[in-house]
Amino acid sequence: MPSVADRAAPAIVADGLVKRFGGALALDGVSLAAPEGSVLCLLGPNGAGKTTVVRTLTTLLPPDSGRASVAGYDVVREAGRVRAAIGVTGQFTAVDDLMTGTQNLVMVARLGGFSRQAARSRAAELLDLLGLSEAAGRLVRTYSGGMRRRLDLAACLVRRPRVLFLDEPTTGLDPRSRGELWSLVLDVVAKGTTVLLTTQYLEEADRLADDVVVLDRGRVVVTGPPRQLKQRVGGHRVEFHPPDRSRADAVARAATALTGRPAAADGDVVRMNLDEAAAFPDVARRLMDAGLVVGEISLGYPSLDEVFLALTGRPRAGALAEGAADDAGH
Ligand SMILES: Nc1ncnc2c1ncn2[C@@H]1O[C@H](COP(=O)(O)OP(=O)(O)O)[C@@H](O)[C@H]1O
Ligand SMILES: [Mg+2]
Repeated sequence: MPSVADRAAPAIVADGLVKRFGGALALDGVSLAAPEGSVLCLLGPNGAGKTTVVRTLTTLLPPDSGRASVAGYDVVREAGRVRAAIGVTGQFTAVDDLMTGTQNLVMVARLGGFSRQAARSRAAELLDLLGLSEAAGRLVRTYSGGMRRRLDLAACLVRRPRVLFLDEPTTGLDPRSRGELWSLVLDVVAKGTTVLLTTQYLEEADRLADDVVVLDRGRVVVTGPPRQLKQRVGGHRVEFHPPDRSRADAVARAATALTGRPAAADGDVVRMNLDEAAAFPDVARRLMDAGLVVGEISLGYPSLDEVFLALTGRPRAGALAEGAADDAGH
């Protein structure tokens, strides 16, 4: 199956990017490509090099070696042209707390060369698109976290960028704000913008990406459409607690026998892989009818740790240390 990157003119191309900070290798030969009008997700844990890729592609950081172009321009030799063609959340835009939503967007538009009239109408149009019309006249300092992210995104969209970079746009957002931001990204892409988005969530990559680049310790682990990634990682995860928490092993065996799908106990939780989310209602009903489930049974995505284990055969860098820190902290 050809990836989207093979089919259209690339809006983003990186070839062998290397970046060192002191002795540390942050990027160790990163290559990727995104065709025009597509969404490329960079999926990786903290420290994988995602922000360093974004900073390189947005001209903020020259690579030590390798090359990259965005919107057809070289990020080092034609940095000015790249900057004119892109939007970056959280970098070029800084929303001002002491101004209203409208005032922020009008200011960005005026700085971008819009007339007063055009700036006002572009601001109103974007506030409407991002569902902020009602809050347009309020000071930004009264906005929720999700509203601020949307305003930040609006500020990036003022000049209709050809390529939009979103560095972990939904980290720390509640599920509803996350869902709203996802639909906005899809709207923007439908209008022809190419998006490079970094994330730590497989679910986000699955919902948004045409292609996913999994990054670990500055290297590309795998590149491909989300479907291919999920096939390798095992699709969805079903999770539930058995009635007697000390007998999760026995319940996992019973669940395997009942459904024909391998289930495994992890502490007092039973987990099962499902390739297709559509099979979930039937599987859940059979497990519940057999009395194997107490409380909730949930369908979710594999965690980033599971993705890395499945792809690389080893825990991702830092996972063990973080687990130990979590245990100490809670
Ligand atoms: N300005 C910097 N100076 C020194 N080290 C840096 C700098 N920026 C990033 N790094 C290091 O490079 C690696 C990749 O960082 P980063 O690109 O921020 O990862 P991510 O965004 O995936 O969390 C990390 O080990 C980080 O500590
Ligand atoms: Mg980062």
